[in-house]
Amino acid sequence: MAYSGLLGWYDTHRRSFAFRGIKDPYAVWVSEIMLQQTRTETAEGYFIRFMERFPTVKALADAPEQEVLKYWEGLGYYTRARNLHKAAKLVRDEYNGVFPKGYEAVRALPGIGDYTAAAVCSIAYGYPKAAVDGNLRRVLCRAENIREDMDRPDAMRRLQEMADDLIDRDRPGDWNQALMDIGATICLPGTPECALCPLAPHCRAKDQSPEALPVHSKLKPPVSVPVGVGLVFCGDTVLLCKRKEKLLQNLWVFALCEGDNTPEAVQKTIEKMGLRVRYTGEAGEARHVFTHRVWQMKLCCFEAEETIKKPDRVFVTAEGLEALPMPTAMRAARNVCLSIMQDQQREQRQDGEKAEIEG
Ligand code: ADE
Repeated sequence: MAYSGLLGWYDTHRRSFAFRGIKDPYAVWVSEIMLQQTRTETAEGYFIRFMERFPTVKALADAPEQEVLKYWEGLGYYTRARNLHKAAKLVRDEYNGVFPKGYEAVRALPGIGDYTAAAVCSIAYGYPKAAVDGNLRRVLCRAENIREDMDRPDAMRRLQEMADDLIDRDRPGDWNQALMDIGATICLPGTPECALCPLAPHCRAKDQSPEALPVHSKLKPPVSVPVGVGLVFCGDTVLLCKRKEKLLQNLWVFALCEGDNTPEAVQKTIEKMGLRVRYTGEAGEARHVFTHRVWQMKLCCFEAEETIKKPDRVFVTAEGLEALPMPTAMRAARNVCLSIMQDQQREQRQDGEKAEIEG
């Protein structure tokens, strides 16, 4: 077998997670979608809560999308949750609620690419297909000393073919997960710990600067975008808007002005919604890093004369602010907003008590 010692190492050193040792393809699918772009330790907690609430593909399919998004809140990359929900409905309606068995049928579900189909089918069904994500790419490029530019599709295709040849036919799911664990704990991007690595006897880059691999030509730094965040208060409520844009679609955010974070620009954005407001001051700054952009946010407070209620615009109390699904990009603004609302409530209580004493 290629990479002898790898599965023996996995048997004794594997990381233990709630999503490990499960063969239910639905559960494996949920975990693999969560694990894309998310740290394993973070994903594990979300996985446990999600599976308690949506234990079967039917339970997920029957739930409203807003509830699914609420269970995803904080994980980011919300398209994953929307696609998961869409695919669950498809499995319910077109596969009688039974998760498809073949690689091609799994690959054809919304939100499932080569990586996820390979991970699900190798782990749940023992299908011999390498799940080449960022970790596997790094480990394999180093083990085989591949110095091609991994941003070229043909280089990626060759790497996938090579990995499919190397995979252990008896334990493909464990082979994939062993390489994932090595990528996450030993064969790290900057400082590989080759002395601990079970692949060291096979590794062709070990003495040739493994940290320089894999080669990427297209890595671009994210662009910085100023974003004005309008906290629009009316009485004990604040304005939330449901995003239509692809980024953070269907999640609830404050009134945002992307591209300009001055109070004047935010005010114009709010007035375009048909609200008359008065600017009352700045409430700090926040930053959120997405894959391709960084939001440089300024929080600007406003008082509205009256509230509105539309499907995608609502004024909510502090409790409502906690109940709707909001992205992590809004976490700092939400905390500032909640503390402003608490201060307002305290002041109102004190005024009420004073009035009672004086009265
Ligand atoms: N990353 C993605 N899938 C994983 C898995 N099954 N185990 C550990 N890390 C992962």
